[in-house]
Amino acid sequence: MAANSHEKVETNVGLLIILITLVVSIGGLVQIVPLFFMPAATQPVEGLKPYDALSLEGRDIYVREGCYLCHSQMIRPFRAETERYGHYSVAGEYVYDRPFQWGSKRTGPDLHRVGGRYSNEWHRVHLINPRDVVPESVMPGYPWLQTTPLKTTGIQRKMEVLRTLGHPYTDEEIAKAPSMLEGKTEMDAVIAYLQGLGVHIKTRR
Ligand code: HEC
Repeated sequence: MAANSHEKVETNVGLLIILITLVVSIGGLVQIVPLFFMPAATQPVEGLKPYDALSLEGRDIYVREGCYLCHSQMIRPFRAETERYGHYSVAGEYVYDRPFQWGSKRTGPDLHRVGGRYSNEWHRVHLINPRDVVPESVMPGYPWLQTTPLKTTGIQRKMEVLRTLGHPYTDEEIAKAPSMLEGKTEMDAVIAYLQGLGVHIKTRR
């Protein structure tokens, strides 16, 4: 009897599709819905602030240059990862990341805890020509970051839009954003962004 009904399902594609959809939906809901109500998944970790104007520009340049194609920002909770990079990543660290820069490929190392690991000067030399500090590096150089001034238009609009999505920028922060970018290069912005990555959780290094 049971064997018969099983055969019925397996030989009826329409029924099979409906039943699979049903099972996957229930499984999905059971996993996804509770996350909306878990503070650990929705609240920022202690001390986390939305990106300031300079880091926000840096983040957009990081996306523009495709850094995420070679670098993840997601340390998994495995010993091999935490020994190398520090504390594994937690959801509350990403609440101001739109979109996330988790990445899916690691040609280079994970960058989620790179903040504070090197000096600004190290980053500057490395980004202009990685082989000047890491001779065997296959990372491309980004020398134009050093010579391209930041645009000051657009930053306020960007911050206003993010505020509508829940990033708690104050009027004052938005008002002084353009002056924060004045005279700065794209290099300054990317370095500011990198130096702020993953510094809100104590890492054991
Ligand atoms: C083609 C792949 C590739 C791309 C694209 C790339 N990187 Fe890298 N990156 C690497 C590799 C490989 C390393 C390791 C060797 C080294 O340190 O140069 C690395 C290392 C780094 C490091 C040092 C990390 C550490 O913990 O030592 C930083 C910071 C970094 N990259 C930032 C960037 C930024 C910012 C961009 C975009 C502007 C970028 N990378 C684009 C491949 C890449």
